[in-house]
Amino acid sequence: MSSGTDSQAQCSTASDPASKSMDDIMALCKRRGFIYPASEIYGGINGFWDYGPLGAQLKKNLRDAWWTDVVMKGCNGKLGPDGKPVSIVPVDTSIIQNPKVWEASGHVGGFNDPMVDCRETKNRYRADHLMCMGEKGDSTGQIYAFIENDDKSFANALKKLSKYKKKDIPEDGVDICSLTELGADELTITVGPDAKEVGTLTEPRAFNLMFPTVIGATGDIETNKAYLRPETAQGIFINFKNVVDTTRVSVPFGIAQTGKAFRNEVTPRNFTFRSREFEQMEIEFFCHPDDAKDWYVFWRDWRMAWWQDLGLKGDNLILREHDKDELAHYAKEGAGTSDIEYKFPFTAPGFGELEGIADRTNFDLKQHAEHAKTKLDYFDNTRGELAKNGQPKGERYLPHVIEPSAGLDRGVLALLCEAYTPDPERASGVYMKFHPRIAPIKAAVFPLVKKGGMPEVAAPLAAELRNRFGHLGTIDYDEKQSIGKRYARMDEAGCPFCFTIDGETLDADSPNHNTVTVRDRDSLSQERISIASVGDYLAEKLGL
Ligand code: GAP
Repeated sequence: MSSGTDSQAQCSTASDPASKSMDDIMALCKRRGFIYPASEIYGGINGFWDYGPLGAQLKKNLRDAWWTDVVMKGCNGKLGPDGKPVSIVPVDTSIIQNPKVWEASGHVGGFNDPMVDCRETKNRYRADHLMCMGEKGDSTGQIYAFIENDDKSFANALKKLSKYKKKDIPEDGVDICSLTELGADELTITVGPDAKEVGTLTEPRAFNLMFPTVIGATGDIETNKAYLRPETAQGIFINFKNVVDTTRVSVPFGIAQTGKAFRNEVTPRNFTFRSREFEQMEIEFFCHPDDAKDWYVFWRDWRMAWWQDLGLKGDNLILREHDKDELAHYAKEGAGTSDIEYKFPFTAPGFGELEGIADRTNFDLKQHAEHAKTKLDYFDNTRGELAKNGQPKGERYLPHVIEPSAGLDRGVLALLCEAYTPDPERASGVYMKFHPRIAPIKAAVFPLVKKGGMPEVAAPLAAELRNRFGHLGTIDYDEKQSIGKRYARMDEAGCPFCFTIDGETLDADSPNHNTVTVRDRDSLSQERISIASVGDYLAEKLGL
């Protein structure tokens, strides 16, 4: 489960997200139809987002890449630590399950974030996201709270403290501690991040993150309460026996699922990073307890390499083993838990979690076996002592589980942040450098002008490409406005290749007859290729 903790490793690269403005990225997302605020015409709704045409395709491309590489190709054919192909099967389970599922999983009792309210502004904060500052050496003054990793909120608190002290206090003139370290009596003198008055913050209280709902038209919440799932994982655990009984899988194997999850986050923020409705891509990989460590290392390293292959490279992506105090309720001491973290512009120079890889031991299967009073152990006929006939007698055990759990929306956000490339030399001033596999628009076809027979050649070419590549993304066709404006729009959409039909294409006397220009989004180079080879050219560039 997300602790919300961002690590603070320092680094800097040419495409350093620290140098990118989140406001600019969000503005482009709105302008080009990647992501809109949900319910925008009604003033929005905090913590919910809608994906527009480009965003929906980008998200689908990321989900499809995961589905293909992990599930269908079994980690792209990489052999597991047992030297055998990795076996994964998919499921698609209900968002609403019997509420007993969430009692067994620990979510009813334990899925809480400590939260504080500001009595003055009515803002709500996660206690572990709030830091407090006071003047160095002064134990009597007011304590000013600010939001961790938010420079603006820090600067605000420093300004308020300086005003209160009637002198300029430099950044290194303050003591900083986390709000959760303060005693109850000290809390009475806090000033909330956005408050003017003293003593505005309540004590931290546990806040259950699950969204309750009522089943049935006449049901009341107490007797007919159910929950929207806070993770897709439990739908997998409760179907473990079904999958074993109805398919040919044998341990070690994984069950994968993508789908919506809902958490009533105390402080949804940072665009889609912490939303109340989001999508996960989860694998529960079942193995013998003795093999759990090897599978944990396998999954941790393979998942990291997978994100790198999609373009999240260099210092912007790190693998971080959890500290002991961050372990979720299912992670026993000594079992591995690590995060793949991206340096988002709002976490830089720190990092924010993209995917967690956890050794969940047999916690979930054990809990469900106990609560549902059913047997979930597995009979492994490849293990155990040898019988007289030389065959293993078999062994019965509760498998251990390695869980690589990724956030689809966070993945999309990381890809958007990584792709965003300011370039003052271009008409658009910026382009989105998506990996061609992920780009929502795979190619655009333009007639240079809307006359001279050019649209008549360009439109059928676009239709041909759509026929061949339409399952992978959009093939754009546009004949309006100047070619410069159309290229600029494609740069902002992150379209890797634009094919343009011009006068020479149609001129039977030209050496360039029946050729088109290809504009490469990243290098801006233009070359001519024959119109007949456009499909194969694109296939090669898309790695097909
Ligand atoms: N089954 C384990 C599990 O759910 P988690 O760390 O709580 O673990 C997994 O969530 C991933 O889901 C995170 O790494 C993150 O990418 C994504 N995620 C979690 N909470 C989120 C939120 N409020 N908004 C967007 N994505 C979230």
